[in-house]
Order: sequence, then structure tokens, then C-alpha cells
Amino acid sequence: MSLEKAARAVRENAYAPYSGYKVGAAVRTASGRVFVGCNVENAAYPEGTCAEAGAIAAMVAAGEAEIAEVFVIADARRPVPPCGGCRQKLAEFSRGDVPVTMATMSGARECRHVDDLLPGAFGAAHMADTGADTGAGG
Ligand code: THU
Repeated sequence: MSLEKAARAVRENAYAPYSGYKVGAAVRTASGRVFVGCNVENAAYPEGTCAEAGAIAAMVAAGEAEIAEVFVIADARRPVPPCGGCRQKLAEFSRGDVPVTMATMSGARECRHVDDLLPGAFGAAHMADTGADTGAGG
């Protein structure tokens, strides 16, 4: 199934009674499987989750961890950009050159690489550097 079709379909299931902004996300993994997610809001607003987070959770639950391509769609005038937290989540499972297509229901498209969405991302490699130059004497 195309990533766009998958993201459009799952968007229908979004639970967004508070914002009215339904989002669908689909990721294709290196092995070719597709995982989808939609935003799930909550009356306690901060407990809501983004579509991208849902797709990533489904991917990890299925035992996969290497994203090859991302598609995100919302019914808006401009393509939906992933929020800051989702950029970090995408970077955790993607190489920098992984394409992220942001789309509207009416056909507008914008494509960026993960690297461009979150330049200088914090990653596991930074923790591996611990202790190299703390200036704290230990
Ligand atoms: N939202 C997503 O699901 N993904 C994005 O990339 C941007 C924002 C959701 C969160 C919230 O439910 C609604 O859109 C409005 O912020």
C-alpha cells in the first residue's frame, strides 16, 4: 500500500475532538513494512499523542526500528510539519537522509529530510561522549 493511502486512511480514525485537527502518519521501514498512527487527544490536554508517535509505537511493537520513509497528512491549508517532539522521535529511528513528506488532504506536498527537520539532533552518540571533556575533573 502507498504511504499516502495508508496515512489518509488512518487519519479518518484520529481522535481530535479538542483541536479538530486530525492527523494521519505512515512510516515505511527498511524491510518494507508500513505502520500507521493517528493523533489521540485527551481531555487532559498534555496527555494527547501525535500521529507520528502512534506510528512509531506500532513499528517498535512489531519489532522494527529502522524508518526508511515517512508521510504525514492533515486537512489544512498548509502541509503539516511534525512537532518538535516528533522530530526527535523520528530522528531516533531514521538516518538523516530519510524523506518526510508533509501533505494536505487537497494535494499540497512538502518534502524534507529528517536532518533538515532537526539539525544537530541529540542522539545516542552524544551519550557515548560522556566524560571526554567535562572540565569537572571526573
Ligand atoms: N499533531 C500531530 O498529530 N502531528 C503533527 O505533526 C502535528 C500536530 C496533532 C497533535 C494534536 O492532536 C493536534 O495535531 C493539534 O496540535
